[in-house]
Amino acid sequence: MEETLLIIKPDGVQRNLVGEVLRIVESNGLQIVNIKMLKLSREKAEEFYSVHKGKSFFERLINFMVSGPVVVVRLKGKNAVSKLRKIMGRTDPNEAEPGTIRRMYGLDVTRNTVHGSDNPEHAKKEIHFFFGEEAWER
Ligand code: RTP
Ligand code: MG
Repeated sequence: MEETLLIIKPDGVQRNLVGEVLRIVESNGLQIVNIKMLKLSREKAEEFYSVHKGKSFFERLINFMVSGPVVVVRLKGKNAVSKLRKIMGRTDPNEAEPGTIRRMYGLDVTRNTVHGSDNPEHAKKEIHFFFGEEAWER
């Protein structure tokens, strides 16, 4: 069993898509282990996306991620990381396959509704980032 981290981004929360995203995720066999809503500080958002520091879209990304509350979800399931990435679709909603969350709900390459960890190692770090010590308890 593998774990991954999903974030429903501000555009998703703002447009009442929390239930819809969770429905899709759960119906694809991923189980919710933990969940919470929070508003990212600029500092936290920059730390979370630190791999993108210096890129042209970094400021835009951070401004967007702090623009409203997000829902962070710890998920588990078989091949959870790749499964979530698959049902999310590609970063740019216009390039995402039909039926994926980003294709159906993403607004543009920044406001693309969801984040999913890109590998199991990062998933562990990201789960710890948001759920702290409780991430190790289960
Ligand atoms: P994520 O980390 O949010 O799951 O997205 P991802 O792996 O598909 O894409 P990544 O390259 O990690 O980019 C992180 C987020 O930055 C925004 N972005 N904007 N060209 C652009 O303007 C651009 N490229 C990326 C998106 O919000 C993307 O999800
Ligand atoms: Mg990424």
